[in-house]
Amino acid sequence: MSTTLRPVTRVLRGMPASDGAGVKLTRLIGTPLAPEIDPFLMLDEFRSDTPGDYLAGFPDHPHRGFETVTYMLAGRMRHQDNHGHSGLLVPGSVQWMTAGRGIVHSEMPEQEDGLMWGFQLWVNLPARDKMAAPRYQEFAPDAIPDVQPATGVSVKLIAGELAGATGPVQGVATAPLYFDITLAPDATWTTDVPVGHQAFVYVFGGELQTGSEGHRHPIARGQLAVLGQGDAVELQAGGAETRLLLIAGQPLGEPVARFGPFVMNTREEIEQAFNDYREGRF
Ligand code: FE2
Repeated sequence: MSTTLRPVTRVLRGMPASDGAGVKLTRLIGTPLAPEIDPFLMLDEFRSDTPGDYLAGFPDHPHRGFETVTYMLAGRMRHQDNHGHSGLLVPGSVQWMTAGRGIVHSEMPEQEDGLMWGFQLWVNLPARDKMAAPRYQEFAPDAIPDVQPATGVSVKLIAGELAGATGPVQGVATAPLYFDITLAPDATWTTDVPVGHQAFVYVFGGELQTGSEGHRHPIARGQLAVLGQGDAVELQAGGAETRLLLIAGQPLGEPVARFGPFVMNTREEIEQAFNDYREGRF
């Protein structure tokens, strides 16, 4: 059986945004140009060594109806919620939080200077799971397999399977794949992505080429490429070390009613979320 390489269907650049109490970040998904890439509702990159850009953090705020995934590359972030859960995210660690029916939490930098760099991805939940009990999956860097599937290719496997290894994040409704990939200069690697999954790559170092047979696209640092259907993705580094996220998940194909930190299926459910939050039912 021959392999169909996924084509590039769109190339997006992020937009500068400010969230929380004034944290400066780059929003890649969740913008007017790319409101969502089902099941992904938002992707932010925060990267700054200017404390004024991040010190204010994300004080208490609610979430209902989806999952937030925080992956740190540099810096330390303290997480605390209204159910007594707290944790410290360090470089290389990940927190996959299923907000379900609701939590109120804060995400605050635990440093006063230095580089703060990481990603927050929002993953939608199917209607049947939106009111499930909140759940945390938190992993230290050494719990994340670092797989070398080919020469010059190194993959931190946060979610999904690769070369006989399995990422620590388990039991997520959209069966996601979340790979942090480093390619040596000029390295080429082709990897399977489940057919039917929605997939994208985001380049945060070097330069990548990807696409279908005969239609390769250059994807520069800071660009996100949405991939079309196929059964595999071909990744080719440019002349420098190249770093990227490869993220995929099963699209839900359900109506999305969204207001700030609440993502439900109908407007009535959003109003219910507001009422529940106001009346302290989170
Ligand atoms: Fe949050």
